[in-house]
Amino acid sequence: MKNSTRSGVDPFIVMDVMEAARRAEEAGRHIIHMEVGQPGTGAPTGATKALSQAMEQGPLGYTVALGLPALRQRIARLYGEWYNLDLNPDRVVITPGSSGGFLLAFTALFDSGDRVGIGAPGYPSYRQILKALGLVPVDLPTAPENRLQPVPADFAGLDLQGLMVASPANPTGTMLDHTAMSALIEAAHGQGASFISDEIYHGLEYEAKAVTALEVTDECYVINSFSKYFSMTGWRVGWLVVPEDQVRVIERIAQNMFICAPHASQVAALAAMDCEDELQANLDVNRRNRALMLDGLPKAGFTNIAPPDGAFYVYADVSDLTDDSRAFAAEILEKAGVAVTPGLDFDPVRGHHTLRFSYARASEDIEEGLLRLQRFMAQRAARTTPA
Ligand SMILES: Cc1ncc(COP(=O)(O)O)c(C=O)c1O
Repeated sequence: MKNSTRSGVDPFIVMDVMEAARRAEEAGRHIIHMEVGQPGTGAPTGATKALSQAMEQGPLGYTVALGLPALRQRIARLYGEWYNLDLNPDRVVITPGSSGGFLLAFTALFDSGDRVGIGAPGYPSYRQILKALGLVPVDLPTAPENRLQPVPADFAGLDLQGLMVASPANPTGTMLDHTAMSALIEAAHGQGASFISDEIYHGLEYEAKAVTALEVTDECYVINSFSKYFSMTGWRVGWLVVPEDQVRVIERIAQNMFICAPHASQVAALAAMDCEDELQANLDVNRRNRALMLDGLPKAGFTNIAPPDGAFYVYADVSDLTDDSRAFAAEILEKAGVAVTPGLDFDPVRGHHTLRFSYARASEDIEEGLLRLQRFMAQRAARTTPA
């Protein structure tokens, strides 16, 4: 059968790396996973307990499209706890992961052919979802001196209808402070572009608290999720915060596209929000892993890295080591037994020269992975240096 032009989206290269790692494991090898972008931990215990109780109490049928009122209220309270903001719970919409939030946001805000700016490097699915919806992703190549985050000059005169940012970002973990966020919002609005802020890594910060776009303006869409800080990737539950006059538009699209986010996951998510001790313990592991990475990667020879402010990634410029990050990642997997992600997923142009290392694992795994990388790189250097 004939396919639409829109459906010609690119594959997610990290999935290919995961498959290669799986094949190596099947063949009996032990692989350290630094490719996957998800916590090694599961949902907090309180979340699974709450769900088993709810399952005994009744059928978990559809919820209303905007989500369980108690969950929307609890999320609004989180904005008080995290940012000292007084958020109207009516503005919170529960979505099937932040991925479901992208579909709702892009559909609600843009018409076919509209141009939406995204930072490069950036989370690959922004580009692919925009394309699949008949929209035009406009890559904004970001500069190392701006810690690989977009600045207003990157999209001046580009005639954008939308601007999408992420802070902390994937793959870099870098954040936008209040000044940088405000400048982007002002420049986007000045151009008539809608502002969308992906805040999925909030809660996973190591130096300063991440800034939400809602601290700057109510005229924006904020996208968040239970996947990362709350450690619930497979549960497929997230949320949007939208201006009051946008709620009904989103509600109508959500009713038709998804009916609702999974009811069971909403119950678990609500309970997860009160599992602060467990979530903070997870964060402590990430903090320790981050320190291990910042010490161990340069020792291995990956010296060109920007210390991440949040999330659980380190993005390394490896242009001194290779012109082909995909082949280099394959070599690291084969020879070192460590799976890492080539930068091409995040930046189709400059990603030939970058790798992303994820440290969302047990610290023992990270320590072992770093040792393997150090050994592999020392042998590689010995091979390429003439005696
Ligand atoms: C920046 C960013 N946004 C969104 C997502 C999608 O997350 P989910 O749909 O699980 O909420 C990811 C996943 O890795 C991500 O890195």
